[in-house]
Amino acid sequence: MRRKKIYEGKAKILYEGPERNTLVQYFKDDATAFNNKKKAVIEGKGVLNNRISEFILNQLNEIGIETHLIKRLNMREQLIKSCEIVPVEFVVRNIAAGTLANRLGMTEGTILRRPIIEYYYKNDDLNDPLVTEEHIEINNWASNMEIAHATETAFRINDFLIGLFRGVGIKLVDFKLEFGRIWKNEDCKIILADEISPDTCRLWDLKDEKKLDKDRFRRDLGGLVEAYTEVALRAQSISDSMRSIAVSEESPALAEMHDHVVSGHAILAGAAHVELGRAVAAQLVCSTQGDAGLCGVTFSAPLVLKAGASV
Ligand code: TMP
Repeated sequence: MRRKKIYEGKAKILYEGPERNTLVQYFKDDATAFNNKKKAVIEGKGVLNNRISEFILNQLNEIGIETHLIKRLNMREQLIKSCEIVPVEFVVRNIAAGTLANRLGMTEGTILRRPIIEYYYKNDDLNDPLVTEEHIEINNWASNMEIAHATETAFRINDFLIGLFRGVGIKLVDFKLEFGRIWKNEDCKIILADEISPDTCRLWDLKDEKKLDKDRFRRDLGGLVEAYTEVALRAQSISDSMRSIAVSEESPALAEMHDHVVSGHAILAGAAHVELGRAVAAQLVCSTQGDAGLCGVTFSAPLVLKAGASV
């Protein structure tokens, strides 16, 4: 089914949603850094970010921090509330790294005395410059009340995420948030929009400070999918029975699978798993009509696949 594309960003595509005020957010495998100067396609990244972000945003919704997430639809897509994005990136930092370390000559890894927040104007032509609250206000990117609310929410999210990640042996170094406006009659409120994933956070292993985030790509460290998988598994966004990761969508069978799977749990990774993906797709195509969910995909060694399909 052809859908109307509303917007395509570096890592995601937004399509018109099934109902008013909804959108479908599709997670691509594209990785970019340094404002698009560095680019690659990393198989499986989108699937993992979809899962990780779903897990985190659901947790936030549960503690009363409203987000744009309605529900995950399938391996690469989420149903979200449509909102008017505030053109400001809110970056919260607990430990010096990235541009903070570079700009101010701070040693990477220095623990900050307290968490800090920075604002960046979302504008690729200007390279997303660091801005002040006054810059935001005088340009009407957001009102003072909106900045105050988003800032307070960002620190609340920081407190929550520090604990969540620490519980699974991960240090939350820094992360970026975006907010959007939604209207109910005359009332407007600001909610958390966009993803929270290893693309938008710096996450270090508690024990050895191994980078488990997009710095693996920015710094050519390799092993990005493995690192994101580690985060997903630790955060239990992927259940224990489905430990196999990432898919090549070049294969027509897998393209079929993509079209058919609506609430899939199978994430197949790396070249060795492409055949598995084909087998899953074949089973699905012949065993279902219309929308299908891959449920209870189990692997019995070596590489014998049983896929249960549900309609
Ligand atoms: P920075 O150190 O490069 O300024 O990044 C701070 C945090 O914000 C880091 O966790 C990565 C995230 N981030 C994004 O999610 N998108 C961006 O475009 C940038 C520049 C940073």
